[in-house]
Amino acid sequence: MSRILVIVGSMRKHGNTEVLASEFEKGARDGNNNVTVISVRDYNIVPCTGCNACHRRENKDCVINDDMQKIFPILRDADIIVIASPVYFYGISARLKSIIDRLHQPARSAMKVKKLGLLLVAADTIPSVFDAIKMQYNLILDYFHLDNIGEVLAYGVEAVGDIEGKPILDEAYQLGKRLE
Ligand SMILES: Cc1cc2nc3c(=O)[nH]c(=O)nc-3n(C[C@H](O)[C@H](O)[C@H](O)COP(=O)(O)O)c2cc1C
Repeated sequence: MSRILVIVGSMRKHGNTEVLASEFEKGARDGNNNVTVISVRDYNIVPCTGCNACHRRENKDCVINDDMQKIFPILRDADIIVIASPVYFYGISARLKSIIDRLHQPARSAMKVKKLGLLLVAADTIPSVFDAIKMQYNLILDYFHLDNIGEVLAYGVEAVGDIEGKPILDEAYQLGKRLE
């Protein structure tokens, strides 16, 4: 049983990212894991300013007082973190990137995470639309010595509902179900 945190990086309600993440969640629950799903929609996170005050302060806390204070305890307890994002100009969404950037602080050493997973959706119909994100993801895995549980990449989905009924949803389910 793993404690899994899925972070959904789209603001769009019932959007393709949310649907893909929810299939993964179902699989992971059926595999008897403890799953928490959070969405960028429910948190106001401002970008890291790079002030590095967290490195100098005695308590090592970030000086920005926003919803990151609510997210950090959830992040800290996860064994596996799954990033779910729409492709925005070949990158992940800015809101999701803001959460990741805010982990540039000493408190991240308290995180238990050992593995990452990646769920992506894009309107384009060529698989190379994910290349830039995959490269960044692999660099992060290496840098932090994390294992990859796998990637589920859904292309050719643009409008809300486009992903419904696609076989890629079962891939997301199976990826979740395989985890223990
Ligand atoms: C700001 C923005 C930038 C986008 N950039 C890309 C892109 O570079 N490549 C692509 O294939 N789709 C791009 N899209 C389309 C989304 O990735 C696609 O519609 C996705 O299904 C949205 O996911 P959601 O329904 O979870 O919000 C972009 C959409 C937005 C709003």
